[in-house]
Amino acid sequence: MALKYDYFLFDFDGTIADTGEGIRKSVAWCLEQLGKPALDTSVLDRFIGPPLHDSFEKYCGMTQEESERAISVYRRRYTDIGLYESRLYPGIAMLLRALHTGGSWVAIASAKPRFMLEKLAAYYGIDKYLDAIVGIGEGRHSSDKRDLILAALPEGAQPARAVMVGDRLYDIEAARSLGLGSVGADYGYSLPGELADAGADAVFDDVPALAAHLLGGDGPRGLFISMEGSDGCGKSTQIALLRDYLERRGFEVVLTREPGGCPISERVREVILSLDSKGMSSECEALLYAASRVEHVRKVIEPALKCGKIVICDRFLDSSIAYQAYGRELGEDFVRQINAPAVRHAAPQLTLLLELDRAESRRRMAQGAPLDRLEIEKEDFFARVQAGYDALAQAEPGRIRRIDASKSIEAVFDEIAREVERLLAGR
Ligand code: TMP
Repeated sequence: MALKYDYFLFDFDGTIADTGEGIRKSVAWCLEQLGKPALDTSVLDRFIGPPLHDSFEKYCGMTQEESERAISVYRRRYTDIGLYESRLYPGIAMLLRALHTGGSWVAIASAKPRFMLEKLAAYYGIDKYLDAIVGIGEGRHSSDKRDLILAALPEGAQPARAVMVGDRLYDIEAARSLGLGSVGADYGYSLPGELADAGADAVFDDVPALAAHLLGGDGPRGLFISMEGSDGCGKSTQIALLRDYLERRGFEVVLTREPGGCPISERVREVILSLDSKGMSSECEALLYAASRVEHVRKVIEPALKCGKIVICDRFLDSSIAYQAYGRELGEDFVRQINAPAVRHAAPQLTLLLELDRAESRRRMAQGAPLDRLEIEKEDFFARVQAGYDALAQAEPGRIRRIDASKSIEAVFDEIAREVERLLAGR
């Protein structure tokens, strides 16, 4: 669908990231170092967004010379510590990704020093979505928002095809005076009514509403990652690491598993895996996995993807292909057919297949929880499961990425992170 704009410019502080804590703490520390009176939090909040020297002059009665000195003291703490006392607003990373992968121009236009913006963009992993990062420094000293906006647009860009998203009146006024669209991020550090009074075309209270406005429709769809592998391959450890990794990058993550993941499917899990179910027919087993999957997709996976979250699922359809189609020898056609109602709505874009040889897998399982009904199967069953995974990985090498799970936890995770970065970059 064609978007209303081709160029999307974002302010940083209060729009992309909540940088308040680091700025407040660093201003307070700087005033203490200079022997100046402390300021209330509400006044410290006013330092977030506008050029610092304006704020030091306005709220601390400093001369221009004093404010220059204050900034250099402030930076002693901010550059090393304060920069990282921040977080991306939930949903913003997925919005930037959607704009970038959709072919739009995405840039930051901020009065923050450029080297800090670059550091933060790399730290949060959003640098791969940005066509330009414009801040002050490196020959650019004007913190006039209009200059920053003009520098963030590619040559020949029509202002009417560009929009500036920001949380302060400076952003809105500058965009309007240049003929750009202007959108207010009211979840940042604006005062009540500030953005509407400045004449913003639209103002939003949260990122999902902003994203729906910029992208049209429901906003960005999330991403679905599944993890597969033999029992004992270390999936749970790696899944937890992946969740932390993605959350630090500002993504909202839903961690779930199969069979299970929602109340009804967890009950089905108990039936399938219980040793009391010994003797269950292979068809019944396959249908129960499929039944629990369709419920799980409807209740958990699909709703999370709809609101732009990243779903990490411990096993999905590939497990049914490996274990039921190959392991139980039910055939791929039958297993795919009974799973059609589930996968019609959601299929992983990336599947991480953790590979471990059978001897090591058995050794690790022997040290873990008591074995369930599938784990006590005979060796020829597991050989067929392995053949199933091999066939899947060969058939879909783009989606299914093989990971050597025999390495250290850190080395395995490095490989996983590389694959996930490729997905995030839209490659
Ligand atoms: P888990 O122990 O990794 O949670 O998985 C439970 C067991 O269920 C495991 O042995 C693999 C098996 N399984 C299947 O046979 N088919 C499936 O579709 C799924 C999801 C799991």
